[in-house]
Amino acid sequence: MKIDILTVLPELLESPFQHSILKRAKEKGLLEIRVHHLRQWAVNEYGQVDDYQYGGGAGMVMMPEPLANAIEALSKEAHYDEVIYMTPDGSLLDQRMSNQLSLKENILIICGHYKGIDQRIRDQFVTLEVSIGSYVLSGGELAAAVLVDTIGRLLPGVLNDETSALFDSFQDDLLAPPVYTRPADFRGAKVPEILLSGDPKKIEDWRHEQSLQRTQERRPDLLEP
Ligand code: ADE
Repeated sequence: MKIDILTVLPELLESPFQHSILKRAKEKGLLEIRVHHLRQWAVNEYGQVDDYQYGGGAGMVMMPEPLANAIEALSKEAHYDEVIYMTPDGSLLDQRMSNQLSLKENILIICGHYKGIDQRIRDQFVTLEVSIGSYVLSGGELAAAVLVDTIGRLLPGVLNDETSALFDSFQDDLLAPPVYTRPADFRGAKVPEILLSGDPKKIEDWRHEQSLQRTQERRPDLLEP
């Protein structure tokens, strides 16, 4: 899978993809991430990519020309299955959306800044608008990093144990069960006996039970049809 990201702050995206699972995905050739500086397509030699908004009001708006030129230039190299705009008024990211996006070949992610991007770019180029939660970030970069992380770990062959993503929270609309490691007795708090029983069926049933209980307590909305 190939992911292109358009941003005015490429520095913010230097570290998130260089560690752990995403690093491995890139090294295995399963994921390619390219971060593009929008100022390459600035409207003048001062690197301008934003301007005042029509109708007045505080805050700048990202201009349509640099974005359109960038999207068109990048589209010559790859056909994008989705052009995604990270924005707090987009569709809320969830595991289902990540699963669907992990099946795509090429995606382009646009990181907004200031007051956002000119509406005409949203109308003419963007195919999916994504929010990572009901709060406002300073820009779309951290949201893009979250989105890429959730997608990258789902690509076949990325996780060592292929089944492990299947048991993540949300993968079956349930939160993950509690987990324990050594020691079996930590300051008097014991690991549940059943996990030491060596009986895989009993352990699986217990985990499912715990998942259900946790979901009921913490996220009853996930259990609604
Ligand atoms: N940009 C600013 N806030 C955001 C959010 N919550 N989700 C996605 N992009 C954003």
